[in-house]
Amino acid sequence: MSTDGRTGSDRVDYTGEGLSEAQAPDAPLLVVQAWLDEAIVRGRERGDVPEPTALSVATVDADGMPDVRTVLMRYLDATGPAFFTGLSSAKGRQLAARPVMAAALTWPSMFRAVRFRGQAHQLDRGLVTDYFRSRPYGSRISAHASAQSSPVAGRAELEQTYRDCEQRWPDHGDPEDVPVPEHWGGFRLVPDSVELWAGRRGRLHDRIVWDRLGPGGLDDPAAWRRGRLQP
Ligand SMILES: Cc1cc2nc3c(=O)[nH]c(=O)nc-3n(C[C@H](O)[C@H](O)[C@H](O)COP(=O)(O)O)c2cc1C
Repeated sequence: MSTDGRTGSDRVDYTGEGLSEAQAPDAPLLVVQAWLDEAIVRGRERGDVPEPTALSVATVDADGMPDVRTVLMRYLDATGPAFFTGLSSAKGRQLAARPVMAAALTWPSMFRAVRFRGQAHQLDRGLVTDYFRSRPYGSRISAHASAQSSPVAGRAELEQTYRDCEQRWPDHGDPEDVPVPEHWGGFRLVPDSVELWAGRRGRLHDRIVWDRLGPGGLDDPAAWRRGRLQP
């Protein structure tokens, strides 16, 4: 970084393959899933996509003030992307007050990004329970030990709470050793719009968008109108 605060010295030309209308179906699900799969494979093979499911999630609080953080997208199906989190966290409280969200998957090494905007729906308890039981023991204990987004005096207090929880629910190697915390759950973003961005030479990028016309999943052509935006 330079002394005047200007960030980054290299101008990287984006040399992606782009995205044409011919590669973009009438409904966005298949192409979004294909891009995700390609990011996962590339991360495995070349190591330059470390967390391909890292999803930036934007919310607004009750005063209209925006907020953003990264979570791991754990589902992507015809209803939209979904993630797990603390329901009493800042984002949990914001989504309870204003159930709208925007989210982005960004894969810079592939010159690709996907954006979603839409309505937030809390995940049902059955899905939350199934997923919670699939998590490693330590992660399940942490979910109890952490009142996500609440202040804590120091690291030591957090670690003591973790140890207390370990004693309360010891690890017998059973998915049901640790109960699902009441304050733990997840959200799904049901999109009203989806955009695929593909970086190209000279900043003349491709942006293909799908706007919702009516009810239907991300795989339902009748629910979407496809268009192109200027870069
Ligand atoms: C790569 C990455 C993955 C993360 N995954 C999650 C996640 O799946 N769920 C979650 O609640 N927080 C996750 N976090 C932490 C969040 O970014 C954030 O710190 C936390 O959810 C509290 O946000 P909030 O105070 O806005 O509610 C992740 C952070 C990073 C950098």
